[in-house]
Amino acid sequence: MKILGIETSCDETAVALVEGEGDSVRVVKSLVASQVKDHAKYGGVVPEVAARKHVDVLFGLLMAAKIDRTGQGIDAIAVTRGPGLAPALRVGTEAAKTLATLWGKPLVGVNHLEGHLYSVLLGTTPGRALSQVTACRLSFPALGLIVSGGHTELVLISDYGKYELIGETRDDAAGEAYDKVAKLLELGYPGGPIISKLAKEGDRTAINFPRPMLESGDFDFSFSGLKTAVLYYLRDNGSGIMDKADVCASFQEAVIDVLVAKTAKAIEQFAPNSVLLGGGVSANPRLRSRLKSAVKKHGLDLLTAPIKYTGDNAAMIATVGYFRARANEFDDPLKLSVEPNLEL
Ligand code: KG4
Ligand code: ZN
Repeated sequence: MKILGIETSCDETAVALVEGEGDSVRVVKSLVASQVKDHAKYGGVVPEVAARKHVDVLFGLLMAAKIDRTGQGIDAIAVTRGPGLAPALRVGTEAAKTLATLWGKPLVGVNHLEGHLYSVLLGTTPGRALSQVTACRLSFPALGLIVSGGHTELVLISDYGKYELIGETRDDAAGEAYDKVAKLLELGYPGGPIISKLAKEGDRTAINFPRPMLESGDFDFSFSGLKTAVLYYLRDNGSGIMDKADVCASFQEAVIDVLVAKTAKAIEQFAPNSVLLGGGVSANPRLRSRLKSAVKKHGLDLLTAPIKYTGDNAAMIATVGYFRARANEFDDPLKLSVEPNLEL
């Protein structure tokens, strides 16, 4: 079954073609047009600018992906319907609804966070024959940690499409904290990749930043106080004595300590059969390696997406679309609406 995926929830316009069979998926094509440069000067994503850019590039991207103009060879269309920026989401959903109607293809409205979880199923080599794809089966119940620019969530997954939220951030998301700290350090936007790189040169023990909610006894997170702690540190330690790499490394270690500790606690309490890590922050090598060893201690493997699919992309959306289509769960193109605050 071949699924066309469309993603426009934030600042990446993305289209993909994914082929699924049984529990395996193969990426036939995945294209992402990033708007990062357009938003960098504002220090964050401007919804109306994002929407306009999506309109500018979406159809060109469909052409570049060589999607047949009549929809031939496509079995269903999957599109992100939330969470995300309303004007941005609308561009993708309206395009998908139009194509579904004109081509007479079924439509699946996808939760973007579900996409990040399913990104761990994506292979690294587009174009491989499906028979060569090692089936990366999810073994349920699974525990998922989603760390993105807008979300930090721990979820229990009892089956494909069945979720229970067990913890989330009470204020800033992990990626948002990276972005805000990078702004404080005047490092640019988005902050995650920059801090992650600079942290490699710094001393993780240089500054003892707080580990928020480490002992809270639940699975919730909070990163806003940590960002404020960095702000106070910078205010009290002038640029002369401060080493940005040390600040980055120490800040990053505080974030990762909390993410790893809460995930480990959830493994102990819920005894999952697999653990998934998804979302833009999951590109972070330190987080990947620390979480991998923590998960291994419980005799489990950590499933992560290939780096290429950690950020926003349409292959993960098409993958969710495949599992929904396989279960014959579709949305009415005339009724599908965007849900900026959609939850899992
Ligand atoms: O999942 P994503 O691409 O978009 C959302 O759905 O939000 O996540 C973007 C977030 C940004 O906050 C970005 O700074 C962060 O992921 N990020 C990273 C890294 N690469 C991207 N954070 C830490 N380390 C990285 N290597
Ligand atoms: Zn995302």
